[in-house]
Amino acid sequence: MRVLVIGSGGREHALCRSLKLDPQVAELHCAPGNPGIEEVATVHPVDPLDPGQVAELATRLRVDLVVVGPEAPLVAGVSDAVREAGIACFGPSSEAAMIEGSKAFAKEIMKAADVPTARARVCANEAEAAAALDEFGPPYVVKDDGLAAGKGVVVTDDREQALAHARACERVVIEEYLDGPEVSLFALCDGSTAVPLQLAQDFKRAYDGDAGPNTGGMGAYTPLPWAPEGLTDQVMREVVHPTIAELSRRGLPYQGVLYVGLALTTKGPKVVEFNARFGDPETQVILDRLETPLGGLLMACATGELGLDPVFKPGSAVTVVIAAENYPDTPAKGDVIKGLQQTEHAYVIHAGTKRAGDDIVSNGGRVLSVVGHGPDQESARRNAYDLVGRIELRGSHHRTDIAR
Ligand code: AMP
Ligand code: GLY
Repeated sequence: MRVLVIGSGGREHALCRSLKLDPQVAELHCAPGNPGIEEVATVHPVDPLDPGQVAELATRLRVDLVVVGPEAPLVAGVSDAVREAGIACFGPSSEAAMIEGSKAFAKEIMKAADVPTARARVCANEAEAAAALDEFGPPYVVKDDGLAAGKGVVVTDDREQALAHARACERVVIEEYLDGPEVSLFALCDGSTAVPLQLAQDFKRAYDGDAGPNTGGMGAYTPLPWAPEGLTDQVMREVVHPTIAELSRRGLPYQGVLYVGLALTTKGPKVVEFNARFGDPETQVILDRLETPLGGLLMACATGELGLDPVFKPGSAVTVVIAAENYPDTPAKGDVIKGLQQTEHAYVIHAGTKRAGDDIVSNGGRVLSVVGHGPDQESARRNAYDLVGRIELRGSHHRTDIAR
């Protein structure tokens, strides 16, 4: 089959790398791509937010399947346009992607489907926000209703700061604080059924020891040896299946990946967030361990033919993100990256890079994500950090405690 991946980040590089390994994938394209992706796919210029342009490119390339990576193109209607052009698409419709695009919509679906999550209030003005803050008490959790690239959530003990965030947003969801470790479960969905991928954990804060501001994610690992037995089955039963059934009931069949962010509270797993796409950087480690060929799996989702649960290789994978100077504030761009290489048990995924003459330079907040694997978590971690130590990028920073 011929496949076109839409996007240009670490997630899309990891997707392309795995698709390239699937013997069924005869031709692989990516748009707009990045210098890492160029090594495994043919890249094409495109505005990923323009549904017409993407559908036109997919038609011209005569691809059998389009895989939409990031959330913004999904919300913009790229999947809808591709399907209207008669091409199979992995990625929910614009309306179904509102499960990520609107926190209020996600809460409404969870309520209707009786999915365990934090109690919440949708607030449209300061008085409502103040009342909700006092109802739930500290620590306060205030979420911008719309897409905010991981920066819309404020968790604080400071009531004034919580209120200031509510004031700065048009509409917010204020909710009960969920205590307990966070895990990510990705479920592949074909519109009526769903199958789970392996559990992973993401490190969201910028600095060691979970200090500093929230980021898109500074590292991840899989599997989770400490996760309670039966957790995946429980989340499929209590969260994933009821959610896709509720969406289906509303005429919004969900085809793509449902990202479930969970807090493991003393009262059981509860949903912190849904995303309509693969998580980054969890995808890098999950795909590293995936044994079932990816192209066939994504095509089965797009055509409503999902079968058996995907199979994973034994062993562990760890990824460490190398972030630009000043990330997540205003990251420095255009710095030359030196020492790009791979080792026997580790490789580099490009997240925010571009070509400048003969050099590859930084071009985003999260620049690279280095993936190591091994028979156990400790060896995977050593292999990842060994390669991180060989890469040079002026001013860059990374966490030293991923998967420790
Ligand atoms: P979100 O964009 O909804 O994933 O929120 C970003 C981060 O904020 C999450 O990964 C959590 O660490 C934190 N967070 C969100 N909602 C809650 C909650 N109800 N209780 C505690 N922490 C939360
Ligand atoms: N790793 C978190 C996310 O992709 O939203």
